[in-house]
Amino acid sequence: MTARATTPTSSTNPGNTTVASPTLFQRAVALLAAFRARPSMRTAPSADRNKEPIAQVLAKYAPFSLSECKSCLEIASGTGQHVAFFAARFSHVTFQPTEYAGGSAGPESPAYGSLKPVFDSIVAHSGGMANVLPPCELDAAATEWTVENMQPPGTRWDAVYACNVCHISPFSVSEGLFAGAGRLLAPDGALFIYGPFMVEGQHTAPSNEAFDQRLREQNPSWGVRDTATLAELAANHGMTMEAREEMPANNFVLVFRKGAGRGSAQ
Ligand SMILES: C[S@@+](CC[C@H](N)C(=O)[O-])C[C@H]1O[C@@H](n2cnc3c(N)ncnc32)[C@H](O)[C@@H]1O
Repeated sequence: MTARATTPTSSTNPGNTTVASPTLFQRAVALLAAFRARPSMRTAPSADRNKEPIAQVLAKYAPFSLSECKSCLEIASGTGQHVAFFAARFSHVTFQPTEYAGGSAGPESPAYGSLKPVFDSIVAHSGGMANVLPPCELDAAATEWTVENMQPPGTRWDAVYACNVCHISPFSVSEGLFAGAGRLLAPDGALFIYGPFMVEGQHTAPSNEAFDQRLREQNPSWGVRDTATLAELAANHGMTMEAREEMPANNFVLVFRKGAGRGSAQ
């Protein structure tokens, strides 16, 4: 167990540092901030559409399927809709929302230079929840992630979650995502990524192929990634693909488990 969420007395595995949940004082401050940030609350229609199907898939896999205190680091929290929804669904998991300040202009994410409006939206959705930490900046492509300096050395996460990131960012972001997850996941922790993916070098629908084309026209470093390429990245960082869950609208949830000796679901 690596997270302490709502139960202050929860135990930990030797050698694993816990991710502390917000204190009562922090929650009170966050609740006030959430109230004040309400006018800044952003919503993405896609996040509203996919949050329930994603939650249903997450519920099948540890740490979300368990009942003891766990932790999840979210990469690119966007509007904050997902972290708020999942924190309510999985109350035993402490979530750390993050966002990138670099200004990736995805379809739902207008370019921004400052993270304040982004953090305001995340806080408006999730501030004051017992199991959501304040949002922080995180560049997944960085060789060291900001959270590595915010938590005690040796802190490990039970899950890393990234939704609609790999195709709307340069490949270096996917590389950094797998490297970071490999570094920071607890033994048996898992990386969950959602989005459109190719399987064995093939698009899974003509609409995905057209989407891939549009992405690459918009930014040549973007594009729908292949599950085999991601499985290779995972292997390089001590993870194996545990599951490839088909989702509505030709998307997938891919689950990569830390630790060797598991079957591959490429
Ligand atoms: C389409 S949005 C997805 C946002 C949110 N996860 C959702 O599903 O609504 C793409 C996200 O990728 C993020 N992103 C781009 N480059 C990144 C990087 N280097 N590190 C972390 N996130 C990045 C953007 O900031 C943006 O939030």
